[in-house]
Amino acid sequence: MIYNVMKDTIKYAIGQLEENTFFAPGAIENLKEIIKNYNSILLFYDKEAFKPCGAEAFFQTLSERFPIRKIPYSGKALPIEDIQKIYDDIKNIKNIDLIIAVGGGTIIDLTKICALTISNELAGVDEVLTGKTFDNKIDLAFIPTTAGTGSEATTFAVVYKDKKKFSILSPTMLPRYTILDPHLLRSLPEKVLNATLLDALAQGIESMWAAGGTDESREYARIAISSVLTGLEETDATKKLEAFLLGAHFSGRAINISKTTISHAISYPLTSYFGIPHGIAVFLTLPQIARLNFFAEAADIQANVTTAQIKERFAAIFELFAAADITALTKKLKDILAALHIKEKLRDYGLKKEDLPITAENSFTKGRSDNNPRKISKEIILNLLGEIY
Ligand SMILES: [Fe+2]
Repeated sequence: MIYNVMKDTIKYAIGQLEENTFFAPGAIENLKEIIKNYNSILLFYDKEAFKPCGAEAFFQTLSERFPIRKIPYSGKALPIEDIQKIYDDIKNIKNIDLIIAVGGGTIIDLTKICALTISNELAGVDEVLTGKTFDNKIDLAFIPTTAGTGSEATTFAVVYKDKKKFSILSPTMLPRYTILDPHLLRSLPEKVLNATLLDALAQGIESMWAAGGTDESREYARIAISSVLTGLEETDATKKLEAFLLGAHFSGRAINISKTTISHAISYPLTSYFGIPHGIAVFLTLPQIARLNFFAEAADIQANVTTAQIKERFAAIFELFAAADITALTKKLKDILAALHIKEKLRDYGLKKEDLPITAENSFTKGRSDNNPRKISKEIILNLLGEIY
């Protein structure tokens, strides 16, 4: 065993699931009962994953008996213009009472935003960017087909306008039903699965050290890290997917409270300017960020944390990774990238040296960079990007 995961991690994680969260191979079948209570139903789905994951056949049968309006989407980030086009198509549908999302973080975020715009009969999707909080009034059922963002468990949605990232917040965007069905992940290309599980692991780790964390979020983070590490060591294909799916879900629940930190903030320009998949973009800087945070002195840190707390939170991470110290932890993080055949240098993703300043410049997202336990300047980021260039 390379790691020291929590005893009976998966059983424990299942015990911590909330009511109306259905977890099992084949859990999508629960939708047959749920749907009986609704009359006007929208289904958002990922165009690429829908058929191979098995959901298309499932919904084919279901839509013979229930009125389901299907809205396909494909895209890695979510530009506001795309949401507007979809909204224009659906805004005249009356009395929508259930919206289902089948896909990864992008589809779930798209569904959240459309739920807000439809609920409030907004004239344009742009209105959600004004900072005003809108309430969603429609029941949501989220069915993730990746093991990454845990978006099904968060009250925020990420959208892009002019390549800039916006996080839309509304506590009412949490779904009434969550369906975690590992069978839907079986057809996921290995590359996508690997990138998304890195996101889940990074979210767990960042949540653990986040300045805004609580005992509750750190407990979810512990479950998330433990589940993903369990999945990495698991050899049975279904059990592996179960572990990753639970890991992603709990990483979502963890960051829903704590929010993410600087690795996520740096990842946004890496994704929007250079197309690096989100999970990889986040994980590339994680070993360096871990060192920076671990060695932070009292003068370097945010007002709401102490160096003792940071050390304590690292101790919990070391424990799960079976790492004796920070050097052992960073080595294990890099070993994970190597084991998944993921390149760890920015130049491998087409970045040029002259791209680093603009990346550093755009690495500050309010609520993410300032949620890192150590205060981070542009110079620190530029330095760090140079190290992994
Ligand atoms: Fe993420």
